[in-house]
Amino acid sequence: MKELPRLPFDNPDILGIAPRMRALQREGPITRVRTAGEDAWLVTRYDEVRALLADRRLGLSNPYPERSVKSAARGFMMALMAGDDYDTEATGHPLMRELLVPRFSTRRMRLMKTRIERHVDELLDQLASSTAPVDLHHALSFPLPTMVVCDLLGVPLADRERFGQWARGTFDQSDNQHSANTFQQVVDYMTELVARKRIEPGDDILSELIAEKGGTLSDADIAQLGNAVLLFGYETTIVRIDMGVLLLLRNPVQRALLAESPELAPAAVEEILRLSVGGKGSNALIPRYAHSDVTVGDTVIRTGDAVMLAIGAANIDGRAFPDSDLFDLARVRPKPHLAFGHGTRHCIGRVLARIELTAVFERLFRRLPDLRLAVPEESLRWQEHRITGGFDELPVTF
Ligand code: HEM
Repeated sequence: MKELPRLPFDNPDILGIAPRMRALQREGPITRVRTAGEDAWLVTRYDEVRALLADRRLGLSNPYPERSVKSAARGFMMALMAGDDYDTEATGHPLMRELLVPRFSTRRMRLMKTRIERHVDELLDQLASSTAPVDLHHALSFPLPTMVVCDLLGVPLADRERFGQWARGTFDQSDNQHSANTFQQVVDYMTELVARKRIEPGDDILSELIAEKGGTLSDADIAQLGNAVLLFGYETTIVRIDMGVLLLLRNPVQRALLAESPELAPAAVEEILRLSVGGKGSNALIPRYAHSDVTVGDTVIRTGDAVMLAIGAANIDGRAFPDSDLFDLARVRPKPHLAFGHGTRHCIGRVLARIELTAVFERLFRRLPDLRLAVPEESLRWQEHRITGGFDELPVTF
């Protein structure tokens, strides 16, 4: 019998889609693969991935949890998304969204945009006045999204040094103990913060949640929602700032266009999001389980089967994006990429993430026109063991 392709697929490049993933996409929309925890269906084409993200017959929870082995990191992530328990996902997940989505109101986003733009200007001033080489990851990519999370949760900026490594630790799939210890620190911190907000409310998400549902939510419920905002709210964006810089450095013509015309920044951000797949591509796979039988083409996905929705591969599917590998600021009416997912679990922080990324890429190459890597690109190390992936440093000169 032919051996199944085994995820994750090797990639000679630190960015982009692995050759094996591309080959499977050419062969068809869906294929059986082997993963560390269990065999799964891998879906690689745009139309099928998008349709399945919106299909309520697929869920995050596993109807047969005893059949699979998953890391502590994956377990925490599923719990934060109210998708760790098959019996409660159908009620718990809509409730989570009902409570979290209104927290990202237009009013709050407008206020945050102004603060974010000011903060980017300050960070770039500091960067420009330091002596190169500088680690752009620590000077820009890390401080901005962590400031945003401080704002959302109403904590002092100084706390970002405390929680800054928590997302990486919690979502470290290589060390269950480290993941569990780190997650416990997050839970303790958030529980204390909720107690503090009950006494001293502010203009922040936790204070709003305390007042929700006639004040009936428990501290533990509120802390759980706060943990999701904390742990999903910064590392994802840090990774995209670093990758956006790399993608634009690889595309000097597009970068020059952007530096000349900052109004192209929103288009640049969409291309960055579309093409932001790193290393072996694990940061661009969305896991699901079939909660009832689902047919894709000639394939029947049976109840309980694991499904991997390859959003990174879907985002370079030539059927949806002509010349899909090109970073192109002038794409005409591009289809929506799937970097924030789609459908029932569409990213709750996507407006905010776009504001952050736009503020950065409107300014970065104007403020530092000679920006370039200070090390060979091949020496950068993609952190495959984290669910979120990413780099630990990005040394640049300017
Ligand atoms: C560029 C940055 C970001 C990227 C690429 C990203 C990506 C994603 C993706 C792909 C999903 C869907 C996962 C799935 O369907 O299983 C998701 C969900 C989510 N994201 Fe984001 N995200 C980003 C930023 C943020 C920010 C800034 C926040 C909050 C401050 C946030 C909060 C969430 C939450 C709470 C969910 C869970 C939604 C649910 O399960 O219904 N994200 N994100």
